[in-house]
Amino acid sequence: MADIFERLVKHYGPIGEHRDRAHGYFTFPKLEGEIGSRMKFRGKEVIVWSLNNYLGLANHPAIRKVDADATKEFGLALPMGARMMSGNSNYHEQLEKELAEFENKEDAILLNYGYQGIMSAIDTLCGRHDVVVYDAESHACIIDGLRLHPGHRYVYKHNDVEDCEKQLERASLLVEKQGRGGVLVITEGVFGMAGDQGKLKEICDLKKKYQFRLLVDDAHGFGTLGKTGAGAGEEQGCQDEIDLYFSTFAKSMASIGAFIAGPRVIVDYIRYNIRSQIFAKSLPMPIVMGNLKRLEMLRTMPELKEKLWSNALKLQNGLKERGFDIGKTDSVVTPVYMKGGVVEATAMVTDLRENYHIFCSIVVYPVIPKGHIIYRLIPTAAHTDDDIQKTLKAFSETKAKLDKGVYQVEEIPHMAEAR
Ligand SMILES: Cc1ncc(COP(=O)(O)O)c(C=O)c1O
Repeated sequence: MADIFERLVKHYGPIGEHRDRAHGYFTFPKLEGEIGSRMKFRGKEVIVWSLNNYLGLANHPAIRKVDADATKEFGLALPMGARMMSGNSNYHEQLEKELAEFENKEDAILLNYGYQGIMSAIDTLCGRHDVVVYDAESHACIIDGLRLHPGHRYVYKHNDVEDCEKQLERASLLVEKQGRGGVLVITEGVFGMAGDQGKLKEICDLKKKYQFRLLVDDAHGFGTLGKTGAGAGEEQGCQDEIDLYFSTFAKSMASIGAFIAGPRVIVDYIRYNIRSQIFAKSLPMPIVMGNLKRLEMLRTMPELKEKLWSNALKLQNGLKERGFDIGKTDSVVTPVYMKGGVVEATAMVTDLRENYHIFCSIVVYPVIPKGHIIYRLIPTAAHTDDDIQKTLKAFSETKAKLDKGVYQVEEIPHMAEAR
């Protein structure tokens, strides 16, 4: 018989295998100091483009005060237990009510984490006769939710509405043949890697031809898109046709937790049946109080979203003017596509961090195909013109070096921390 532990340590996985050179630098880096556009990395100040602190709320004095006051007043323990048993409070219910109103839905339910919350929601909503139709580039939490789904699932090519329709047709035929079950379509408001918005309006239009319900994960659209910041549905004018709207608090709200908003009867069904919340402790009071304050600021301070977009457009236009390929983004997420291997990518990132003091994330094989590199820049309302100009200059200079082959080194630079 094989020993499970022995097998695991033979190969640590595609990223884990580089940990001896990467840990604490390319992987598990420690950004220190106050959250903002400039933070400390290994003792040096860097311009940070890796945090989803879209509206710059993380370190806003009013937010810090509410977080601190609520922690002082309630501590981290209250309320104890799961919502259904002993962990409910008026503040939890107030936050749900305000989120529902903001998203123009009847009701909303809080989730402790986005990832396990949406996974568990998919499990709650779909039985074995139901068919899920979903986008090929859906976030891991949706894919893992589908792993819990005992029924059929049909994937459509990323953001390809024609293929979505084809899969809807297959799904409808299957449901008809079975004589029971229904269809749930799942997509995202903004795809977090490439920054392209999900084609929500076109998918909603398919409701004229097919019977299905639509669940949208709008983690990156909430607070950044739409006139009021209500997200991609508002931006595309189809919020009312989104049956269930999901977002995490981990991005625009710079906090933790998540929610699903929709019709009262369905949200109530989820409330009484979602295993990840029924069998887990509810969100601590300071998190709920902090989220109430964040939501208030997100709603009443449009200047934060305006600043975010002004920064995002300066960065995106500056990159395009310098000949960079930023793909199809129509959100603030800014990917920069380049050609190169994993080793080159890490050498370039080291140069960016050590000599240009720019901290951004890279995406390489196996997340994307071999030979491609994506530098993923996340602008926020907290960035300054100086941050943007320095970054554009650094990208021009390092790209020229990449093209000249300067980063064609033998192996991943040895940057790990002593452990
Ligand atoms: C699209 C999307 N959905 C869900 C999640 C998970 O949310 P959370 O961090 O609250 O678990 C993320 C990442 O944070 C995400 O990018």
